[in-house]
Amino acid sequence: MPDHMPHAAFTLVIATFVMTYYNQQSYPKKITCYNQHVTLNRIKGFEMKSVKLVNCNLDASEISLGCMRISQMANDDISTLIHTALDEGVNFFDHADIYGGGQSEAKFAEALGMNASLREQMILQTKCGIRKGAFDFSKEHILEAVDGSLKRLQTDYVDVLLLHRPDALVEPEEVAEAFTILQDSGKVNYFGVSNQNPMQIELLKKFVKQPIVFNQLQFSITNTGMIDAGINVNMEIDASINRDGSILDYCRLNDITVQPWSPFQYGFFEGVFLDNEKFPELNAKIDELAAAKGVTNTAIAIAWILRHPAHMQPIVGTTNPQRLKDLCKASDITLTRHEWYEIYLAAGNTLP
Ligand SMILES: NC(=O)c1ccc[n+]([C@@H]2O[C@H](COP(=O)([O-])OP(=O)(O)OC[C@H]3O[C@@H](n4cnc5c(N)ncnc54)[C@H](OP(=O)(O)O)[C@@H]3O)[C@@H](O)[C@H]2O)c1
Repeated sequence: MPDHMPHAAFTLVIATFVMTYYNQQSYPKKITCYNQHVTLNRIKGFEMKSVKLVNCNLDASEISLGCMRISQMANDDISTLIHTALDEGVNFFDHADIYGGGQSEAKFAEALGMNASLREQMILQTKCGIRKGAFDFSKEHILEAVDGSLKRLQTDYVDVLLLHRPDALVEPEEVAEAFTILQDSGKVNYFGVSNQNPMQIELLKKFVKQPIVFNQLQFSITNTGMIDAGINVNMEIDASINRDGSILDYCRLNDITVQPWSPFQYGFFEGVFLDNEKFPELNAKIDELAAAKGVTNTAIAIAWILRHPAHMQPIVGTTNPQRLKDLCKASDITLTRHEWYEIYLAAGNTLP
């Protein structure tokens, strides 16, 4: 240390130098703001926006990468995929204790060589509550499951924990106890659910003191149950059947962010609707819009979800870095109302 410089000042200079270096090396930093359409990444000539989150102090990309399908991948390929995501501004990664029997979480951390600096740049979400042959929201299982996920992900905390699928035997008092223990110990920062209807969430909320921030639900252009019933209220047709208790309106009313899972699949994992001869009219419309906007069909499929004013955060499950880059362009385009409805109708839906 130069002897004319007081110790505190010298420390400050060194700290500033280290921070400047760190900022230059790291991915685009997250910014603290809760408005939608905040830009996370301007580097590549397009903008990855953050999702509007009301009850939660996270600056999360509006597109999230799901890690359900990575367990069979080579470590180098996983690393390339995750670094591509970060380069594109995708900072939110969705896991579950059961994906690949735990291997998705384990290989994610192993492939990246998880370390403190990388961990800081990511928002990690995991889920628990599905066991072989049963669903289990008992306090004991939730606590045990989180410890397992933390170990596999090589981290001290997850940003978000979701209850994966409703447990018919749920005792919400136990969930509440588990959430409080996890929050107080710093192991989980925020909580949510998956595949739950409004009354199930209300039941939890009677006991759980933390806000329910997310509800992960199946939703894609070819899986629109959440909006069909609302368009066809009181009609004597199948589309009028309300199968989910108006979950989308409930989530909007309660500031719960919907995370659409499987945004490219039709049915229950029956396949991808894009470039699929079973959906000629839909693909013709999507391809026409993709050509007009200079993006791929994957970007249009995600842009269709992002156009909904509920500010949903789709969870994409691609394992292909180029596909991921292509679909991230969705964050940079906004479909018109007319285009949104054209796609809805091309998928075989009708309007009253
Ligand atoms: N909460 C729940 O109950 C629940 C249930 C299921 C999933 N999830 C979450 O949602 C995430 C996404 O699910 P998902 O993987 O089923 O979603 P997805 O993004 O709809 O499907 C991705 C799969 O489709 C393939 N694919 C083939 N052609 C494609 C194309 N043109 N465009 C896009 N994908 C194409 C991908 O192959 P490539 O890898 O070759 O691109 C990949 O295998 C999961 O990772 C998980 O995190 C949650």
